[in-house]
Amino acid sequence: MSESEMVTLTIDGRSVQAVKATTVLEAARSAGIEIPHYCYHPGLSIVGSCRMCLVEIEKIPKLQPSCATPVAEGMVVRTRTPEAVRNRQSVLEFLLLNHPLDCPVCDQAGECELQNYYMDFGCYDPRFNENKKKRKKALPIGPHVILDQERCILCTRCVRFTQEISRTGELGVHDRGHLSEIDIFPGKELDNPYSGNVVDICPVGALTDRDFRFQCRVWFLGSAPSVCPGCSRGCNIEIHYNERFDPRYHDRRIHRLKPRFNRDVNGHWMCDEGRYAYHAIDAAERLRAPSLGREGAHMPAEWQEAMRRTAEALKHTLETHGPTAVAVLASPQMTNEELFQLRGLFREGLHAEHFEYRVPVRESVYSDDFLIRADKNPNGRGAELFGFAGAGSDDLLRRCSEGRIRFLYLCHHDLTRAYDAGMVRDALAQVRFTAYHGPFDHPTAFLADVRLPAAMYAEEAGTFTNFQGRVQRISAAVPPPGKAVPGIEIIAMLAEALGTPLGKGSPAQVFREIAAKFPPFEGMDYETLGDSGQLLKSG
Ligand code: FES
Repeated sequence: MSESEMVTLTIDGRSVQAVKATTVLEAARSAGIEIPHYCYHPGLSIVGSCRMCLVEIEKIPKLQPSCATPVAEGMVVRTRTPEAVRNRQSVLEFLLLNHPLDCPVCDQAGECELQNYYMDFGCYDPRFNENKKKRKKALPIGPHVILDQERCILCTRCVRFTQEISRTGELGVHDRGHLSEIDIFPGKELDNPYSGNVVDICPVGALTDRDFRFQCRVWFLGSAPSVCPGCSRGCNIEIHYNERFDPRYHDRRIHRLKPRFNRDVNGHWMCDEGRYAYHAIDAAERLRAPSLGREGAHMPAEWQEAMRRTAEALKHTLETHGPTAVAVLASPQMTNEELFQLRGLFREGLHAEHFEYRVPVRESVYSDDFLIRADKNPNGRGAELFGFAGAGSDDLLRRCSEGRIRFLYLCHHDLTRAYDAGMVRDALAQVRFTAYHGPFDHPTAFLADVRLPAAMYAEEAGTFTNFQGRVQRISAAVPPPGKAVPGIEIIAMLAEALGTPLGKGSPAQVFREIAAKFPPFEGMDYETLGDSGQLLKSG
């Protein structure tokens, strides 16, 4: 940024540098000075309606809205003078006149800006002696969102979201003056693909999430930064999980996903499809222990036994039929670290020849020109970089049917979603040993000789490479169910059972190896990736 584009101003006695068009509120924020606000949101247009952000600016007689006032050279701003604080208290007193004060049953309690600012600036003796105005409560306005008009402070963030971001315009301010209220337009439903974001941006408890409602108090939630695996965009998310033991699952479990700001990937937003997909993590179909046997005759086994049998079958195939009879069907749901280890073991260690990762998609998939991508996998780009062929698995299945593949290492995919179930069954019947490595029990896992339960994205550390070539970290928020383990541990155990150990490297160590061997990842490590990732060198 050139010097001519910057201005220097003073905020609360501190000298602050800011870009010319920046507002006082944003300049203060960048200097770590928080000015209370309701209607301002960095991802939306500015309306300056709530008056909570008023500050004193030297040489201007009245308090000014810091969210709508651009910075100027030499400006002197004071955010906590008695007059500014008195204004905040008055605004709060007005906002709380008709507020139901139902914090004990409100999901926003603990992260509500009415509560927080009241404790910081309110704390007054209320002068309102009338009956509070009654409005609609707990009104389902769409598949994911509940509206409580009594709690609303009319900041209009949700209305602007539907006008400016989702561009669907379902919400509006109805009536005028003291009768004003947020509501859905007649005959409409808040059912756009991004509807859950209005809950994130509501600063109070007026819009709550039907999925999260009454599930967990927010002060019991821990948070882990991660990446949504729902499509190749790789929206940055926070995984919120209960930090206490949850007796329903005998462990810590996930309660919600929230978007995490990344200017280059998803801005402040995420789609509903990704937001609510976390339920799959606790699905009844999760594999919880290794098992041996085929077509329903599966018997639980210890990891050691499952690995010994898999390694025996693999060695036998290599000795009797050679590496052309070994095939790997990896998955673009796997992390870079898993794919790298899989490649290291099967291609470099055992010289196997058939490496695929993509299975054709039979269902129609939704995509748009905002965030949602048609490729519903987080790491197709990574799979291609590690040399897995993406042409599809038709040829692989044909080879299986012809009896040319004797050992198949199949990761994650349910082939019956892409091919006729009878055809898959017949093809796998010709394979002498099929190992299934993945998180779910499904018709394809049912046909395998060994099933190796793998962790999902929220249960392991690693990285995904999104469609832009941005390498981003995921982190383990909760432990995997039962005896399931992260994919790189499964591959390391198999390598050990084969007598060609890969070493029990942590994901960070494996990633350092990737950076050393693959030029597009050169110079990267978990530290440099940070929270927002890095583009591949060739990306
Ligand atoms: Fe400035 Fe609302 S945040 S007026």
